[in-house]
Amino acid sequence: METKIITIDSNHIDNNQLMSAVQILHNGGLVAFPTETVYGLGADGLNPEASKKIYSAKGRPSDNPLIIHIADFEALDKLTKDCSTYGRKLAEAFWPGPLTLILNKSELVPFSTTGGLDTVAVRMPSHPIAFELIRKSGIYIAAPSANVSGRPSPTKAEHVIEDMNGVIDMIIDGGKVDIGLESTIVDVTGDIPIILRPGFITIDMLEQVVGHVEYDKAILSKEKNPDIKPKAPGMKYKHYAPKGELTIYEGNSDSVIHAIKNAATRKLSEGYKVGIIATDETIEFYPKDIVKTIGTRKDEVTIARGLFEILRDFDTDGAEYIFTESFDNNQLGQAIMNRLLKAAGYHIEKV
Ligand code: TXA
Ligand code: MG
Repeated sequence: METKIITIDSNHIDNNQLMSAVQILHNGGLVAFPTETVYGLGADGLNPEASKKIYSAKGRPSDNPLIIHIADFEALDKLTKDCSTYGRKLAEAFWPGPLTLILNKSELVPFSTTGGLDTVAVRMPSHPIAFELIRKSGIYIAAPSANVSGRPSPTKAEHVIEDMNGVIDMIIDGGKVDIGLESTIVDVTGDIPIILRPGFITIDMLEQVVGHVEYDKAILSKEKNPDIKPKAPGMKYKHYAPKGELTIYEGNSDSVIHAIKNAATRKLSEGYKVGIIATDETIEFYPKDIVKTIGTRKDEVTIARGLFEILRDFDTDGAEYIFTESFDNNQLGQAIMNRLLKAAGYHIEKV
């Protein structure tokens, strides 16, 4: 299949360009588009044939449900039932934005989109291209991240092209995304909101709106724990992984730098290609030709934005071993460490 790649300026959306994407969605095809979190791979969420194509394009297990993207609150009422009062409050506080809510699904939503579950994931994205694509098409767009299953999520169109060129109908290049980590997922079907996947919207931000919020136990664990099954099916799979073997080093900054340098030197002497993930504050302490900075510790937002890109960049370089510093496990740092731990297959060295 030939994949059409078009560029749209999110500040001045070209209607003709956008309508060519709308047309594809109406015909049951696949369009990758930017959102404020990561690029999504979209199809008509109410058309089982269309969502099947998403699974095969990504190589995604069929029990891993999709998020349906909407552009107005009426859609929330159509796609879901018995929305809790606090669920509604969260939607009103954070939509459009990087929050996904898990709700009981209505009859309208096919099981092929929810992986057979009676619940459905819904999100109203704030990115102008995503928002307009939903609005103009009138389609409830089912969209997982636009990467091949298991690979780091795409934060720019080049990443989508790497994974999806020749496999889907269209890729909309809307430049680099803003946040760089997938949305926070909150299950609002029970008495208390439960975070199933940490993201840009932190527990503190949620609690300011609805009081007490809890975490799904599986996401707090720093180890791969086979006894605790995550409530978001997708969180159980190996994920975000670069091709090289990634190890996280945790401890005080000096010890971490020392240990990473030692490990890198050892692997280099064995003849392997090595990469080091540092920060603006520490990059100068490592060998120049193998280190990249992920962002600055002074602003965690830059680290979130840089994470998936740096993992892909080391893939492109052919790194066989990648060593990374770790980050504070609170607020946005929690989402960063959640992705990093999965990417590393939970391989941490404490130093
Ligand atoms: O930021 C995002 O959320 C991006 C953009 C494109 O919107 N999308 C995204 O989709 O990250 P995906 O498919 O890569 O991740 C969706 C996650 C998976 O872990 C899936 O298991 C979970 O949401 N999920 C979907 N429906 C669910 C449900 N009914 N109950 C529990 N978890 C659900
Ligand atoms: Mg994903």
